[in-house]
Amino acid sequence: MTNAGSRASERVEVGLGERAYDILIGGGLIAEAGLLLAERLKGAAVAVITDETVAGLHLDTLASSLDAAGVRHVPIVLPAGERTKSFAHLEQAVDGVLAAKLERRDAVVALGGGVVGDLAGFVAGIVRRGMDFVQIPTTLLAQVDSSVGGKTGINTARGKNLVGVFHQPRLVLADTDTLDTLPPREFRAGYAEVAKYGLIDRPDFFAWLEANWREVFDGGPARTRAIAESCRAKAEVVARDEFETGDRALLNLGHTFGHALEAAVTYDPQRLVHGEGVAIGMALAHRFSARLNLASPDDAARVEAHLRLAGLPVRIRDIAGELPDADGLMTYIAQDKKVSRGALTFILTRGIGRSFVARDVPSSELRTFLREMLEQ
Ligand SMILES: NC(=O)c1ccc[n+]([C@@H]2O[C@H](COP(=O)([O-])OP(=O)(O)OC[C@H]3O[C@@H](n4cnc5c(N)ncnc54)[C@H](O)[C@@H]3O)[C@@H](O)[C@H]2O)c1
Ligand SMILES: [Zn+2]
Repeated sequence: MTNAGSRASERVEVGLGERAYDILIGGGLIAEAGLLLAERLKGAAVAVITDETVAGLHLDTLASSLDAAGVRHVPIVLPAGERTKSFAHLEQAVDGVLAAKLERRDAVVALGGGVVGDLAGFVAGIVRRGMDFVQIPTTLLAQVDSSVGGKTGINTARGKNLVGVFHQPRLVLADTDTLDTLPPREFRAGYAEVAKYGLIDRPDFFAWLEANWREVFDGGPARTRAIAESCRAKAEVVARDEFETGDRALLNLGHTFGHALEAAVTYDPQRLVHGEGVAIGMALAHRFSARLNLASPDDAARVEAHLRLAGLPVRIRDIAGELPDADGLMTYIAQDKKVSRGALTFILTRGIGRSFVARDVPSSELRTFLREMLEQ
């Protein structure tokens, strides 16, 4: 599909009524961003929030494109890394937007991964009670997940993503060329979220990934297609349940285990990055579902085989170093925000592409399962 005047090779619409927006996916989109923004946000000036790493790689291209289209812009460059999702950097970014004398009709542009996107979206959501927001995601994770759906926010000392607002972007530009500069480990971690969409409710997509994952890693049309299919999957869920009162929870497949493991390694990215936790978490969710006689052990084995082939960890013992015991992991699981009034809510599955939200998962079964998994 082609967008008028753009080289984007795919367009996915997030159907949210009058707040509907497009995700454009393809190569060279940053160079076209100026024209696309000028066209859609008539006359707006923009603050470009980015991090130091991405600024070094892609900010010049964006700045030239904005200049060429006559869009006034100011850069706000923050340190790279999860620690930037903090009150201190929120204050710095808000101050940058105000100092640039941007008004309510102007826009905040996020150029970077999920960290920049979450923080910049929050800035856009609260400055002058809401400014326009554009996402230019530059990691695979951000292109297939965090830039779509309107969740924004920061971390506090008490946990991740505890403070934020829902604030949908007006446009998402996923420039697939930016992924060429991404470290391979970050690409693989993002791939876990791509596979997740197949495992939630797209068995054909999962089978396609099994056959084509190498091409997805190599770039080109298969990569664009995988990103577009992932965005389509997320957009559908978001359009059904924007504020996560029901189905949107399916997007957390693998995340209850994953978040517990991330917490267990005190969010040390040397040991585990988010997507790796999700990969182990998805493998565990399938095994646990097989244990509960909901799904076939063959499906669990198939999921594990694919993720492992793509270079992702799938067992708890794949994580280097000491880990808490089963009771310790249970405590982290109970702290996860997906726990609602005491009952454990989990995403379980009846097989590949047949995930569902399970409430009242018996914690005794889970503890026994974790004990075994820690030994394998
Ligand atoms: N809002 C949501 O719905 C949602 C969903 C999932 C995750 N998240 C959030 O996303 C964050 C993780 O996002 P992430 O994995 O993109 O992390 P990130 O933003 O920290 O990016 C990872 C690293 O890659 C670098 N980088 C980014 N783009 C690059 C490029 N093109 N080339 C080279 N290096 C590049 C960054 O500087 C950073 O060091 C977490 O904070 C998580 O909570 C949000
Ligand atoms: Zn995730």
